[in-house]
Amino acid sequence: MVMHKNKRILIGVTGGIAAYKVPHLVRQLKERGAEVRVVMSGSAQEFVTPMTLQAVSGLPVSLNLLDVEAESGMGHIELARWADVVLVAPATANFMAKIASGFADDLLSTLILATEAPLIIAPAMNQQMWQHPATQENLSILESRGVKVLGPADGLQACGEIGPGRMVEPEIIAQTILSQNTEDESHCDLLSGVNVVVTAGPTWEAIDPVRGITNHSSGKMGYALAAAARHSGANVTLVSGPVHLPTPSGVNKIAVSSAKQMLEAVLGCVSDTEIFIGVAAVADYRPVQTRDQKIKKSGDTMSIELVKNPDILASVAACPEKPFTVGFAAETENILEHARKKRIAKSVDMIAANNVAGREGAFGNQKNAVTLITKDAEIEIALMDKYDLAMEMIRCIKQEYEKTRLLV
Ligand code: PMT
Repeated sequence: MVMHKNKRILIGVTGGIAAYKVPHLVRQLKERGAEVRVVMSGSAQEFVTPMTLQAVSGLPVSLNLLDVEAESGMGHIELARWADVVLVAPATANFMAKIASGFADDLLSTLILATEAPLIIAPAMNQQMWQHPATQENLSILESRGVKVLGPADGLQACGEIGPGRMVEPEIIAQTILSQNTEDESHCDLLSGVNVVVTAGPTWEAIDPVRGITNHSSGKMGYALAAAARHSGANVTLVSGPVHLPTPSGVNKIAVSSAKQMLEAVLGCVSDTEIFIGVAAVADYRPVQTRDQKIKKSGDTMSIELVKNPDILASVAACPEKPFTVGFAAETENILEHARKKRIAKSVDMIAANNVAGREGAFGNQKNAVTLITKDAEIEIALMDKYDLAMEMIRCIKQEYEKTRLLV
């Protein structure tokens, strides 16, 4: 695991139900070597106790603006100077409004005015509140001031509604913040100036306006590779199917839905690409016909005729000026054997054999393990966090890519 020393992260917790995830977030950050201090608003303490956050962070939790125990009685200034990054998670609609207007009526809002550290917020609220024009205006104000916004994610909410408003998962927040710090401070030059295209996530092949064929890809592996390539100095384009992940910083994302759209987006940029990494779980088949109206329930059985989708990876590998091409082979049995055959069948330079069987498989999980197969080597990379695995892969890809350039 990549360790991040001396990363001082100040987490501000405001009053939403997602505050129950903050102890896990603190753990995730600390496990990666970050130092974490916590500031809580009054209402946050209704959802999670200061004692819990003190126990997981290992440091006293700050609660009050006027605290005689804090250094010189000015806790907000001391905390504002201490932080490398200020993260507000969860950030409520009320707190977003407060900082967009510049209020300073409690410890957290005051130190946000007093700090020079970058501010990141992870909003969490009811989906109607998120979509309200007032919240959207506050969001625009904050973004225009350079505040980085992670999420919110879509899905089932504590209030029973479905929509955008869930706090992004702690693992993703931790990975995004720490990889951003890596970029700021230990940006490496492995792929300096190289143009890289990564595909990620599932595709959605519509059957009718409400149904479609898709799969369990969360996009985590592809987004981790895009972030790792960016941190290695590459210019990265991420062609992504529908996922709920924040775009890694500095990466140019093209959002697509179907395999045909993904192919079109990839072919649109492949002529300028030096390295192509196909991580997306592309549907092999799509319905022959997409109905305009919702299909009505009728007989006990029904059939949907499918037609083969174009193979994006093989199409890139067949380009006259083909980039160095890397694919993934998602397999449930005879993993290496199938992966070797796939590498040859699709004419790619490297394939990552990936076990996707069962609940321990790569789909949706935070960790993954692969065997990288080229024409003359097989390199096993053990189970680890997907971002760390992505960095290992980038090192191997760079070596192999360099070899092909020497051959030219
Ligand atoms: O997104 P996560 O939840 O993090 O999960 C990661 C992952 C399991 C999706 C990822 O690690 C992975 O294995 N991706 C490949 C998924 C896949 O579709 O594998 P495949 O063996 O069916 O395809 C082989 C290769 O051809 C892949 O690089 C795929 O992107 C590509 N392909 C497949 C079909 C198609 N029509 N076009 C393609 O480009």
